[in-house]
Amino acid sequence: MVLQQSTVNPTTINIELPDGRKSEIVIGSGLLTDASTWQRLELPSKLVVVSNPTVKRLYFENLAAALPTEPDLIEMEDGEAHKSLSSYEKVIDALIERGHNRTSTILALGGGVVGDLAGFVAATFYRGIRCVQIPTTLLAQVDSSVGGKTAVNHERGKNLIGAFYQPSHAVIDVCTLMSLPDNVFVEGLAEVIKYGVIFDPLFFDWLETNRDTLLARDQDALSYAVAKSCQIKADVVAQDEREQGMRAILNFGHTFGHAIETLAGYGTVLHGEAVAMGMTLAADLSARLALCERADAVRTKELLDSYNLPTHLPSDIRADDMVRIMKLDKKVLTDKIRFVLMNSIGDVVVTDDVASQALHSTLDAGDALCA
Ligand code: NAD
Ligand code: GLY
Repeated sequence: MVLQQSTVNPTTINIELPDGRKSEIVIGSGLLTDASTWQRLELPSKLVVVSNPTVKRLYFENLAAALPTEPDLIEMEDGEAHKSLSSYEKVIDALIERGHNRTSTILALGGGVVGDLAGFVAATFYRGIRCVQIPTTLLAQVDSSVGGKTAVNHERGKNLIGAFYQPSHAVIDVCTLMSLPDNVFVEGLAEVIKYGVIFDPLFFDWLETNRDTLLARDQDALSYAVAKSCQIKADVVAQDEREQGMRAILNFGHTFGHAIETLAGYGTVLHGEAVAMGMTLAADLSARLALCERADAVRTKELLDSYNLPTHLPSDIRADDMVRIMKLDKKVLTDKIRFVLMNSIGDVVVTDDVASQALHSTLDAGDALCA
């Protein structure tokens, strides 16, 4: 894959964390193949890229040529099913066999699956080695590579084993988004839209106005949208790294979304698609509870629709099943389900005070959702 050279100054965002820790996000076009990107990072000589065959084929050679020293490469298999303890063990085995130690740095090259697993390896190998995230899906660029959540799945649930461990840097090259399949690109836009709804009404307006350029994957529009999303996530994470409170707002649409993924069967509905449906349900519920104006819920649904994201609950999913699954969510501490709901566009609230009748009306609304 030929990438463009960096033409403009990249955007840099710093996350200032407790105890003087820092994590830096660099966003631009052509960063991956630009040697100056990597010189700035002052990397040690022992580098190891963790990737999968799909992403390795597209980007490893060009990345390796730009790095200051030749990196080692460890591949894991592609797909959510491989974000597992068994893949984790294989990567650790390979690190040990190839003589890596606490002076090595892991470069996680791939989507959220590679990033989460490689991040967890970095968090635990020799009790923690340096990690640089190089996310190559839109979802990974605006969400999983930023904020330090790392994990592998357990057969009883997603992300049950993991650590909060910040990468020293996330290097985000929007050129890598050009090779994404359409559906994987568009599902990432659901998370981008989420940031407008939860935090920034002007960004929401911008997403309404710039739909065509974003869907055409215009690099300037992408750089702006990714940087804006990362800035919002960085602000939230800096205030609540370990999700004791405010960080929960990043889960807008996710309580419904996770239940939809479970009921539809993993892989049937993409994560971002489920989150888009979940955000529509959350917006509708907010309006039913009179937390927000109905017009704000309608605008949210219309924006998601305009980006070709699904906004209806699949007709074969029943309200009772949704409620049952949402009560099993690992974030439910009591019998009450916790939702992130809208006060207005750009302002949300976390609450478990939701009348069952309103919840059922939202889940039963079908085509009348947000209408
Ligand atoms: P993914 O990593 O499975 O990537 C999707 C597909 O795209 C894969 O087949 C991958 O090989 C391929 N791919 C990656 N980059 C590509 C490119 N540039 N061109 C072509 N193909 C490419 O999925 P994802 O959506 O990136 O990430 C999902 C994971 O992220 C889930 O495991 C989820 O739990 C996790 N996640 C973590 C956080 C967090 O805060 N840590 C947040 C959100 C999601
Ligand atoms: N993806 C939600 C979070 O990072 O907290």
